[in-house]
Amino acid sequence: MRSVGWGILGLGNIAHKFASDLLLVNNTELVAVASSDFKRAKVFSEKYESKRFYDGYSQLLEDDEVEIIYIASLHPQHAKLSIAAMEKGKAVLCEKPLAMNEYEVKKMLTVAHSREVFLMEGLWTRFNPSFEQVQDWISDDTLGAVRYLNATFSFNGLDRGEDSRLFNPEKGGGTLLDIGIYPLFLAYQLLGMPKDIKATAHLTTGGVDQQLAILLTYENAHAILYSSFTHNEDMRATIAGEKGEIYMESRWHETPKISLITPENTISKSFEFNGKGYSYEIEEASQCIREGKKESAKWSLNNSLELMQLMDSIRELCGIHYPSDRN
Ligand SMILES: NC(=O)c1ccc[n+]([C@@H]2O[C@H](COP(=O)([O-])OP(=O)(O)OC[C@H]3O[C@@H](n4cnc5c(N)ncnc54)[C@H](OP(=O)(O)O)[C@@H]3O)[C@@H](O)[C@H]2O)c1
Repeated sequence: MRSVGWGILGLGNIAHKFASDLLLVNNTELVAVASSDFKRAKVFSEKYESKRFYDGYSQLLEDDEVEIIYIASLHPQHAKLSIAAMEKGKAVLCEKPLAMNEYEVKKMLTVAHSREVFLMEGLWTRFNPSFEQVQDWISDDTLGAVRYLNATFSFNGLDRGEDSRLFNPEKGGGTLLDIGIYPLFLAYQLLGMPKDIKATAHLTTGGVDQQLAILLTYENAHAILYSSFTHNEDMRATIAGEKGEIYMESRWHETPKISLITPENTISKSFEFNGKGYSYEIEEASQCIREGKKESAKWSLNNSLELMQLMDSIRELCGIHYPSDRN
C-alpha cells in the first residue's frame, strides 16, 4: 500500500491531537505543516516529525509532495482555506463544521467537483469502530426500528471569555457549530432528515448560543438533542428501538464503550482505539486518496450539505447570526 503525503494547516489545539494520531497510521506521512506563526510551525514540525514547516499557508499549497491538507483553523476560515487548497489541486480533509452555512458549503462542493479533488468533513465520530458497531446493530435489525434518540454535548467553558473561539461570533462561536453538531450528526446519520424541527437557545450578549435544545420529529421517531458551554454533564447517548436500547458511554462521541440491551440479552463492547480516535478518519481519507475517490461513501459531501442545512434551519429558529452570513 503506497504512502499518502499529508499537510496540516493551522496549528492549534485540534491539530496537535490529529498529528499525534497521524503518526500511528501506517502508510501515511506528515510532509509539511503551516501556521500564521513561524515559531509555532517550527515547534509543531519538530514534535510531529514533519519534513518541512512553513511560515504562512501559501507555500504549503505549492508543496508537490503534499497530497491532502487537513484544515484545522477556526470555522469561519474553513471554506476559504479549503477552496484555496482545492484550487491548487490538493485534496482536503476539513475540520467540522465544513463551513459556516449552506452557501459556503455549496461553494466548496462546486470547487471540489470542478477541480476533481477529494473533499471530506472531519466528522471523526462517523469512522470510529464503536460507532460502526452501533450502525451495524441498527442495519442488521438487532435494535429494531429506532423510535427515540437522546444525545448531548456540554462542558463548562464560561472561563474562556468573550473573545475565545467558543463565544466570539467573528470566530464562529456558539455551541451548535462547535459541539451541537455531534448530537445533530447522530440523529441525522441514524434517522435522516426530520419532518419537523423545534429549537430554542440561550444566546450570549454577542448573539451566539451558549445553551441549545433541539427536538427533531420523524415519521415514527423523536430525537432530543442538547448542547451547552455553561456546565458539565455526563455525555451518554441513548438510541432506543422496538427491540432494544443502545447506550454509548460518556463521552459518547469518542467512546470506545457501547452496550446493547434487549429483553433476552446484554452485550457490552469496549473497543481498543488506535490513538485518540482521529486515526479512523485519517485511514478513510488516505484510502480514498489511494483509490482516486473524490469523496467518502461513509460521510459524503451530500451528508455534510444536509447536516449544514439542518444547522442553518436551527440557527434561523433561534436567531443565531454570524458576520459570514452577509457574504
Ligand atoms: N474534531 C474534534 O474533535 C475537534 C476538537 C476541537 C476543535 N475542532 C475543530 O477544529 C477547529 C479548530 O479548533 P481549535 O480548538 O484547534 O482552535 P484553536 O486552537 O483556537 O485555533 C486553531 C488555529 O486557527 C487559527 N486561528 C486562531 N485564531 C485565529 C484568528 N483569530 N484568525 C485566524 N486564524 C486563527 C490558528 O492557526 P495558525 O496556527 O495558522 O495561527 C490556530 O492555531 C474548529 O473548527 C473546531 O470546530 C475539532
